[in-house]
Amino acid sequence: MKDHSKESLPTAIQPQELISQPDIDQMCSALYQEGWAVLDNFLSGSFIHLMRGDLMALDQEEKFHKAGIGREQDFIRREDIRSDRICWLDDINDTQHLFMQMLDQLMTAVNRRLFLGMNHFEAMYAIYEPGQFYRKHMDSFKGQRNRIMTLVFYLNPNWSAEQGGELVLYPEEGDTPITTLLPKAGTVVAFLSEEFPHEVLPTHDTRYSVAVWFRIREGDIPI
Ligand code: OGA
Ligand code: MN
Repeated sequence: MKDHSKESLPTAIQPQELISQPDIDQMCSALYQEGWAVLDNFLSGSFIHLMRGDLMALDQEEKFHKAGIGREQDFIRREDIRSDRICWLDDINDTQHLFMQMLDQLMTAVNRRLFLGMNHFEAMYAIYEPGQFYRKHMDSFKGQRNRIMTLVFYLNPNWSAEQGGELVLYPEEGDTPITTLLPKAGTVVAFLSEEFPHEVLPTHDTRYSVAVWFRIREGDIPI
């Protein structure tokens, strides 16, 4: 596997330098009070640049495939529901390694504050081409305790409202959005996966993101 990031990644970067303690505190407080959080400038411009480079290199190597709905034997392609293409992160280079170390740190901080007992995560790059979208959906169903928390990091510098591709977050009941946000570089959104339906509105420009799910893997639960 080719390493996409070795040359450009300063070896001195530590995961704890990627995100600030005040940002972690603010995210935890909002999650505790509302069940969701949005922060701007959560990741630095230079780290976004590395992530975006990694995503684009993987796309060049044709590592992306059409997204589907459901998992394993239930997997189906439904382009009327979602039309993006995806690539799972797999700790294959320094950029992905650093990102995953950062996620570990964040998951630990959220667990401490919210007692969620999350012990595992998965992360996926997504590309939406102009005209693509993801209709209103849930990431996990009530009581399944599969995906506990969703986070989406955006990798699009200088994104403006005319470019579309907004994420719309809804309450459990009803169609009045809680918030609508542009997929701007540095922005992160986090929410409880079983509680918030959400959708990606059609984008008018190529839109890059990383979606992460913090999970509880049965068998890893401490007794
Ligand atoms: C998803 C999703 C939101 C976004 O991948 O499940 O809802 O803003 N992504 O990319
Ligand atoms: Mn989703």
